Amino acid sequence: MRRPFIAGNWKMHLDRGGAVALAAGIARRAAEFPSVDLAVCPPFVYLDAVGAAIAGSSLGLGAQNMCAEPQGAFTGEISAAMLTNVGCKYVILGHSERRAIYKESNADVNRKLLAALAAQLTPIVCVGELLSEREAGRTKEVVAEQFAGSFAGVSAEQMVRCVIAYEPVWAIGTGKVATPEQAEEVHRDLRGLIEVRYNSGIADQIRIQYGGSVKPDNAKSLLSQPNIDGALVGGASLKVDDFLGIAAGAQS
Ligand code: 13P
Repeated sequence: MRRPFIAGNWKMHLDRGGAVALAAGIARRAAEFPSVDLAVCPPFVYLDAVGAAIAGSSLGLGAQNMCAEPQGAFTGEISAAMLTNVGCKYVILGHSERRAIYKESNADVNRKLLAALAAQLTPIVCVGELLSEREAGRTKEVVAEQFAGSFAGVSAEQMVRCVIAYEPVWAIGTGKVATPEQAEEVHRDLRGLIEVRYNSGIADQIRIQYGGSVKPDNAKSLLSQPNIDGALVGGASLKVDDFLGIAAGAQS
């Protein structure tokens, strides 16, 4: 049985006070959702303060990106070891905004993924098609290519430590959520890819989150699909009640 996992991707929002208040507000109520894993992913500069604000709670801490290199002359970059050092358990990799705006390739995502695994972080690896790709009937192919490239060289032992987030790009920040059936179809395909590459036991263990305009009022219908194991939430993760409303949709 896969434990539902709801993570908030705060993107480049909030100031220090707002980040601490949001994290503390979620942490205070996290125990109301004992059957769900919860995490927040603030901007790098607030990780330390948010980590302190949620200490002692069941709420996990994650980052939104990292550098594939372990250390050295990489001005402006943050390593996996720095993330674990400030208490991160998770790191989001290959978000569509990083792929589209910062031109991260599957090979870049793969290097970061291997570095994150080596540092004992749990990577949340994002995949998802553009609207034009969906309209051209290429969703399955695009997601399969992202999966193959991003997870190249990942062993079975490493794979079970990963989380995948299916985020159709056309549903991110648009209010246009994928229907539960559209999302479930891709999640099922992804689990099938894991089964072919590894085996069914491993495919059954991997949590696949859905992301893209998840809100409290659509969370339950998405999360009740057999292959949707959680959500990666953008906009609705910036309000305590909205984020926990989504968590409520995952609570059994
Ligand atoms: P929204 O929930 O704002 O659509 O963002 C989704 C997302 O990109 C999470 O990583």
